Amino acid sequence: MRILFLAVLRAHTGNAVTAARIRDHLEAVGHTCNLKDALDFESSTELSSLICAEKFEAALALHLYRGGRLLQGQRIPFGIIFGGTDINEDTKHGEKKQTMGAVLEEARFAVAFTESMKEMALNIWPHAKGKIYIQNQGISTMPNITFNWNTFLQSAEWHQEEPNVYMVIVGPEVDPVFTSEVKSRVKRAAGVQLMGEMPREDLHAIVKNCFAVVNSSISEGMSAAILEAMDLEVPVLARNIPGNAAIVKHEETGLLFSHPQEFIQQAKRLVNDPALEKEIVTKGKEYVRSCHSWKLERDTYQNLLRKLQ
Ligand SMILES: *[C@@H]1O[C@H](CO)[C@@H](O)[C@H](O)[C@H]1NC(C)=O
Ligand SMILES: *[C@@H]1O[C@H](CO)[C@@H](O)[C@H](O)[C@H]1NC(C)=O
Repeated sequence: MRILFLAVLRAHTGNAVTAARIRDHLEAVGHTCNLKDALDFESSTELSSLICAEKFEAALALHLYRGGRLLQGQRIPFGIIFGGTDINEDTKHGEKKQTMGAVLEEARFAVAFTESMKEMALNIWPHAKGKIYIQNQGISTMPNITFNWNTFLQSAEWHQEEPNVYMVIVGPEVDPVFTSEVKSRVKRAAGVQLMGEMPREDLHAIVKNCFAVVNSSISEGMSAAILEAMDLEVPVLARNIPGNAAIVKHEETGLLFSHPQEFIQQAKRLVNDPALEKEIVTKGKEYVRSCHSWKLERDTYQNLLRKLQ
């Protein structure tokens, strides 16, 4: 089947990585799956032309609003993968909510990453009962074994007091205002190094060699970075917010903190208690293997695709 897959594809962001992984699952069983950036289309008429020209037979969209709304009224069957902010944020806007309800009605199936996301969607759109499946994000990591450590370490500024401890912040610059704020703060902080986006394999090589991965985010979502750290057997220190608490069980699969003092306390504990570290790493790896299986995710999407034939 020729499948169109709409998502917001900013490089090295969670959405782009998820979409590419699901595309690979579908292509592995012989489908052709073309990823297109939802932001490239001004209207669904523009998308209609593309569907015609490229002879797409079915479609998928990641995010009920950003991708889904473009598929409304197109002549091909489609499925939806909830993005998270569609259910958490966009449903607060009356018009968007209505559009999303109509899209969901047309969709042959929808996928939620978690049970709670499914429940939230069903509360808003009871008509989608029986249509929403749960499939956690599958995780697979592949650290670059030829990663060049010399260039990485030379560029790092070492912490003045504790030369062995430094913090590296990695990722794409998405919000320019926030980025400049972060840059000016980092300039004043010894031992904190800011790095831009980089290939996933390189990032995984770095993570694998870190003592811990920190997530201090206050935003909603599910952190693939945390799950990847668990897969790479690196302990996780994460802020205690719902998205993180859903995957990090305190003292089991990682350590949670609510404020800076608690972060320092938990970080010191991790440094001084190798038994705790070992326990966390083992449980984290087990959790990813059983609940975020890449193989299971592959099976689910390959099966769901039959609903579009
Ligand atoms: C792995 O690291 C090497 C050396 O730094 C680099 O040349 C190569 O492009 C990297 N490969 C990937 C897949 O990132
Ligand atoms: C941190 O966690 C939040 C919530 O789980 C998530 O939205 C965000 O993408 C994560 N960021 C990183 C860099 O892991």
